[in-house]
Amino acid sequence: MGVRFLATGAGLPDRVLTNADLSKMVDTSDDWITERTGIKERRIAAPEEATSDLSARAARQALDRAGVAAEDVDLVVVATCTPDHLFPSTACLVQKALGLTKAVAFDVSAACSGFLYGLAVVNGLLETGTARTALLIGADTLSRFTDWTDRSTCVLFGDGAGALLLRATDGPGDLLSVHTGSEGAAGDVLCIPGGGSRHPSGAGAVPKHPAFIKMDGREVFKHAVARMIEAAHAALAKAGKTPADLKLLIPHQANLRIIDAIAKRVDIPNERVFRNVQKFGNMSAATTIVALDEAVGDGRVQRGDLVELIAFGAGLTWGAAVLRW
Ligand code: ACO
Repeated sequence: MGVRFLATGAGLPDRVLTNADLSKMVDTSDDWITERTGIKERRIAAPEEATSDLSARAARQALDRAGVAAEDVDLVVVATCTPDHLFPSTACLVQKALGLTKAVAFDVSAACSGFLYGLAVVNGLLETGTARTALLIGADTLSRFTDWTDRSTCVLFGDGAGALLLRATDGPGDLLSVHTGSEGAAGDVLCIPGGGSRHPSGAGAVPKHPAFIKMDGREVFKHAVARMIEAAHAALAKAGKTPADLKLLIPHQANLRIIDAIAKRVDIPNERVFRNVQKFGNMSAATTIVALDEAVGDGRVQRGDLVELIAFGAGLTWGAAVLRW
């Protein structure tokens, strides 16, 4: 058994936060943010919008595009590190919102690498016949866990969701390889210390460990470049392909300088490396699937094209996948 890709979808908040807006909130500038990250603007969820709302929007679009009914979905997986609640899972909330009455629903937690981890999990469940039609969603609302007085992190992130509808098929299918890796021992460089069982937020008191992103930017940068290059090569080798075979390389959209460094070292021409971090910032688990949705939508990826997705995130975690669209 293998998997077929039926359709993609995206769920992006309407509100745009520009670098000019940010420079009124903290001591920063459009020049600094553009030069260090490439980001010009990002989307921010409305107060009443949570991760499951963006997820449901993306998933509904994928179902509509493929003409697949809600009751045909028997698996829904949401990759997220910013669930609506600690429980129930965000996938169960999406199940409820879309009426996916026959689906098994659960979340996968691997921060910015979540979509690639989710792809490995969903692929396994479809390959073994455990499920036949699956929705895989990558979604995050990191704006809710951002310290808006910390200029070193608040300029980097945005909110969004992307969905991929997959179906099991006889034969080899269109997912040529998936590669995942983790290094928990190096995970201190990127963390949300509060809000979990170690430092619960509690009611009322000012928390000693707030539920905000803490990051050693330079260290994360180094790990991200090294691990994504390693993952890109590993997934290509597993698929028996080379960078020359790829129509498009879609790296995690965190920082233009990280993407440029990867493009150079993977040895692939710039025009075949996807970039939309300028418009959306780092949407964590949503970046690669929203990018694929955009590339399919504007014709940069056509049926039969070979595409590689790569990601890196907190954990530390990383992953890559080679697929035929
Ligand atoms: N505006 C103006 N100045 C700033 C800002 C800002 N928004 N943020 C930091 N600075 C200042 C710092 O205070 C520092 O000032 P100092 O020299 O007086 O101390 C100076 O700019 C340089 O700071 P650095 O942190 O050394 O800047 P660097 O070139 O490393 O860029 C950045 C910072 C953009 C965070 C970079 O390290 C990076 O992108 N790292 C990767 C982080 C990332 O992508 N994390 C996302 C999660 S993981 C993932 O998705 C890959």
